[in-house]
Amino acid sequence: MTETTTLPDLASRADIIRLVDRFYDRVRADATLGPIFDGIAKVNWEKHLPKLYDFWDTVLFRANTFRGDLIGAHAQLIPAAGMGQELFDHWLTLFRTTVAENFSGPKAGHIVRCAEDMANVIYSKIHQVPDPRFDPAKLTPEQRARYATYRNK
Ligand code: HEM
Repeated sequence: MTETTTLPDLASRADIIRLVDRFYDRVRADATLGPIFDGIAKVNWEKHLPKLYDFWDTVLFRANTFRGDLIGAHAQLIPAAGMGQELFDHWLTLFRTTVAENFSGPKAGHIVRCAEDMANVIYSKIHQVPDPRFDPAKLTPEQRARYATYRNK
């Protein structure tokens, strides 16, 4: 059996809007994340969604339209939501699923890697801990071997 449907790659702001709308539909319906947005932060979605279109349009297509406070927006959620690693992992799982259901190609791969990097950056900045990517305990054998060679340069 072969899968014949090919999904398009992300190619424009219209695609970003489609992805962001679908992702936040999923977030709002999610038992863990939904209450953080609608109960704790009481997000005004009419204002919030365009900010997220600008954010991803800037990440993916260098639109340079995002003006916001990425770290502050998440740091203020710590008292009520904890903002632990497992919450970021869950957010990433929903994001990956939404991308994979709608798009495929280099940009789709890139936006997922950007989200993973950003999740690590936000997590480490708001908790003032080292970026988890650089936790030696989490390195794969391949990364360990590659990084070891840098010391000799
Ligand atoms: C634990 C996972 C996360 C939770 C619970 C979460 C929740 C929230 C909430 C409640 C807001 C504030 C909305 C408002 O008051 O208008 C927000 C803002 C935002 N989030 Fe997240 N978020 C998470 C992870 C991420 C990640 C990984 C990214 C990026 C890859 C991201 C991107 C943004 C952006 C761009 C804003 C707007 C910031 C601003 O207002 O300037 N979030 N998030």
